[in-house]
Amino acid sequence: MKDHYSFLAPFYNSLTKLVFGDQLMRAKTCFAERLKEKKVLIIGGGNGLDYQGFQGQLSGEYWEISNAMLSQARINLANSSLTFYLDFFEATEGKLFNEVWLHFVLDTMDENEIVDLLGKIRKSITLKGRIYLVDFYAPKNTRQYFLNWSMISFFRIFAKHKRANIPKYESILTCQKWNKDSQQEFMGGWVKAQLWHTV
Ligand SMILES: C[S@@+](CC[C@H](N)C(=O)[O-])C[C@H]1O[C@@H](n2cnc3c(N)ncnc32)[C@H](O)[C@@H]1O
Repeated sequence: MKDHYSFLAPFYNSLTKLVFGDQLMRAKTCFAERLKEKKVLIIGGGNGLDYQGFQGQLSGEYWEISNAMLSQARINLANSSLTFYLDFFEATEGKLFNEVWLHFVLDTMDENEIVDLLGKIRKSITLKGRIYLVDFYAPKNTRQYFLNWSMISFFRIFAKHKRANIPKYESILTCQKWNKDSQQEFMGGWVKAQLWHTV
């Protein structure tokens, strides 16, 4: 499997902190609660640094397709009870999770991949399980439009992202029979953290 993040991985975190400060980390942790009671499935978690502060409460699985990112996550989350996989997530019969974290990963996929992944997640989630989605939505002002365009172009060049736009998360999830429970907005709504459950 080609590692499209091998170039970016060494400075990914410094770069995001430089541009966004702690806003992305806040979005990725705002719904992290009662973790000790849950099995969590993290897909495309990157280097995992933003979860480090509460890693002791994390158990479940961590799936990444970038070896460079996953190697860092194994170190950053060494004191968690997560099992790490270098691969595309596959559902296993009988293995269920209470929460699935999709943090800034769906925007790297085309619509078909998102729908396919949501199908696998549906098979892997408990009855009351939920998706914790965090991602960029439509920019809200000129500065954000410029940053959004620059970011998409940057990731298309350096991480071979396929998309030139932001997925329509809400319509995709609704069409796939997921319901939104809660939402918190960051940077005026450019970034949203949401909880979704199956209908
Ligand atoms: C933009 S980065 C975000 C990383 C991290 N979630 C964060 O918020 O910093 C996207 C990550 O998702 C991973 N990724 C992309 N598609 C994936 C897939 N289908 N399965 C697992 N990981 C994936 C990439 O390797 C990359 O590390």
